[in-house]
Amino acid sequence: MLSQYQGFLGAAYPWVKAAHLTFVIFWIAGLFIVPRYYIHHQATTPGSAEDRAWIEREDKARTVILAPAMLLVWLLGLMLAVHLNIWGQYWFTAKLALVLLLTAYQGWIGSYGRKLAAGHRELDDKKLRMMNELPGILTALIVVLVIVRPF
Ligand code: HEM
Repeated sequence: MLSQYQGFLGAAYPWVKAAHLTFVIFWIAGLFIVPRYYIHHQATTPGSAEDRAWIEREDKARTVILAPAMLLVWLLGLMLAVHLNIWGQYWFTAKLALVLLLTAYQGWIGSYGRKLAAGHRELDDKKLRMMNELPGILTALIVVLVIVRPF
């Protein structure tokens, strides 16, 4: 049986996995917090000082946390997949599909932020709160796929 240290990452494998999980935590934290900001932001009057403060706060969270964390999670995760050569395993394909949905969710976060910054409040609070449930549900499903590997 091949040792888990024999793939292309060699002895770096557990370190890359540790880094993967660290950036997963940063990424998901960002996916939880930015839409929470939007709920508070929506309550402000467009053009007010409070509105401008939220726009800056959201912009910083998106560029300093969300974008780099997402890129690093993808990069490190794909390195792990190459190392373990797990392409085609059903749990992994399902995980990738759910991670793509999380990535799409981040796209929505960016576009909703641009609308808020332009003064549009497209969704009412209830719909925005429902959107906020999505990353939690997707994260739970991904963790089950990775840990339980039901198929
Ligand atoms: C962005 C694309 C991603 C790719 C390509 C990817 C790929 C991988 C791979 C190949 C492993 C190694 C599995 C092993 O060592 O047995 C792994 C571990 C893990 N990933 Fe990801 N991953 C990604 C995103 C995520 C996300 C978003 C989460 C959580 C929401 C996550 C949670 C985990 C967990 C918990 C482990 C540890 C599993 C274990 O120790 O057995 N990953 N990932």
